[in-house]
Amino acid sequence: MFHLSPQTFANKTAHYASLVEQARHLITGEPNLIANAANFSALVFHSLPQLNWAGFYLYDGTELVVGPFQGKPACIRIPLGTGVCGTAAHTRQTQVVQDVNQFAGHIPCDAASQSEIVVPLVRADGTLLGVWDVDSPVAGRFDAEDRIGMEALCQVFMAHLA
Ligand code: SME
Repeated sequence: MFHLSPQTFANKTAHYASLVEQARHLITGEPNLIANAANFSALVFHSLPQLNWAGFYLYDGTELVVGPFQGKPACIRIPLGTGVCGTAAHTRQTQVVQDVNQFAGHIPCDAASQSEIVVPLVRADGTLLGVWDVDSPVAGRFDAEDRIGMEALCQVFMAHLA
C-alpha cells in the first residue's frame, strides 16, 4: 500500500475549480439526467489521478440502484444505511473514508478500492436523488480539499436538474 504524495496532485483547488467549470459546460442546456450523469462520471474519472471507480447510485424510493459510472461493474442495489453509500444517503452527510477496510459495513465492489468519498445528492425540495461515489486504490486518497471539490461538482450537477 502506498500513499498520495503532495507532488502527485499540485494545486488541487485550481484543478477542482477548472473541473467545476468543465462540468457546468458539459451539462448546461441538457435536461436528461442519465446523459448528464454519464458525462459527469466520465469527466471526473478521467480528470483526477488515482481513481478506480466514479459514479452514481440513484434512489428508487426504496434503495440505491447503480447508475451511470466509470470503472469495473459494481454492486447494483444498496439499502439506505448500509455501506459507505447507504450511510451517506441515510445521514445526508458526505463520507470520507481513508481506509475502507476499517469502515464497518463497507461493501467491497472492486477489491482494489482502499479509500472512498461519497456525497449525498439532495434535491432543492429536500428529497434524495442518490449519491455520488468515488473510489481510489490508494489509502487516504481523499482529503478536505477533495471533499470541498466533490461537493462543488455535485452542486453544479444538482443545480442543472430539469
Ligand atoms: N463501497 C461502496 C459500494 C459501492 S462501490 O464502491 C462502487 C459502499 O460501501 O457503499
